Amino acid sequence: MTLNPDRFLEDLHRLGSFGASGVGKGVVRPAFTAVDIAARRWLASRMEEAGLKTHFDPIGNLFGLNGEKSLLIGSHSDSQPEGGWLDGALGVVAGLEIARASIEAGGPPISVANFQDEEGRFGVLTGSDVWTGSISLAEADMFTDTDGLALGAVRARMAGRAREFLPHDMFTGFLEMHIEQGPGMDVSGDQIGVVSDIVGIREVRIKITGRQNHAGTTPMALRQDAFQALSNFNQRINERFSAVATPATVWTLGHAEISPNASSVIPGVAHFSLQWRDGDFARLNYMETILREVAEEVSRDQDVKIELGKVGAIEPAAMDPRLKEALRNAAEELAPGKWLDLPSGALHDAANVSRVMPAAMLFVPSIGGISHAFDEDTKEADLVKGLEVLNRAALSV
Ligand code: GLV
Ligand code: MN
Ligand code: MN
Repeated sequence: MTLNPDRFLEDLHRLGSFGASGVGKGVVRPAFTAVDIAARRWLASRMEEAGLKTHFDPIGNLFGLNGEKSLLIGSHSDSQPEGGWLDGALGVVAGLEIARASIEAGGPPISVANFQDEEGRFGVLTGSDVWTGSISLAEADMFTDTDGLALGAVRARMAGRAREFLPHDMFTGFLEMHIEQGPGMDVSGDQIGVVSDIVGIREVRIKITGRQNHAGTTPMALRQDAFQALSNFNQRINERFSAVATPATVWTLGHAEISPNASSVIPGVAHFSLQWRDGDFARLNYMETILREVAEEVSRDQDVKIELGKVGAIEPAAMDPRLKEALRNAAEELAPGKWLDLPSGALHDAANVSRVMPAAMLFVPSIGGISHAFDEDTKEADLVKGLEVLNRAALSV
């Protein structure tokens, strides 16, 4: 069966034009924004042109279906608020090209998945979380973004096209191609990575309430400063997490807002996010215990109220041995000596999907190890090599 690499690259660039940032090849296409919905509709039209039957489910996941039993290939097309053109998009367009080439050649049935809100505007991998049953649609509807918009209200924008959730047993397995998003393969010179397992994550939103007051007249000893409490919280978390971390453990305070955010006002409220990732379930949970202890200490010492939201969780996931073997064999045939096995420190829909069917992942290198940034990129020769290896593996299982 003949892949068409030019068509694959053209579709990938076209997808990158939805929400193009104007800075390099970057995109601004968070889940359920107008450009995200437009991109999903365009992808649906490309799937239909290829002969696939399209299906949007209630959470906004898009499927391009080939028959009642097929191998599923895909990823996500939503982006971070400042995202790269390949994170997620690559896996969806690779699935589209492989499914399309298979139809043209009368090959085996391959379907395409495009999950919604992988990047966590509302939750953590929300679309695949709901489809695989980790959380209910009603729970997801309650999630809010950092502006306070509820997912339930926002997804109503796509309700016109939404149908039922698809049964998992329509699919024999799931393959996801993705950029590595770290420096490993760029440094080692490998072209293909076969993912052994995907880290787990915990993520929580935290609110600190102090006392808003005048910055000139309030003595230091009487302040209940929400920003100082946040700063102290961060320092203690760094110390306490460092004490239990392995070199692979990571944590990030990535979103923060203080209110009213004015130079002559003692901040009364701070909102921030904290996430941590590790391959070990017990360590992930132990870090949550530490977090709760730190919250109590800071609340007491800084005289502020600290409220923790619901902790979002995705557990570490091992990839399926048979599908992994198919990827390894294909890599050895098409990129001999230029591939490796490696774990994923980024999260992927494959982690969720692995709980309902066999799932595996393939990586291609990220130039400079950059991702979740506008200048994320990969050499086109590596994108095409990844497509060929994925296709070879898909046809062999
Ligand atoms: C997914 O994009 C992640 O944050 O790893
Ligand atoms: Mn991704
Ligand atoms: Mn991402």
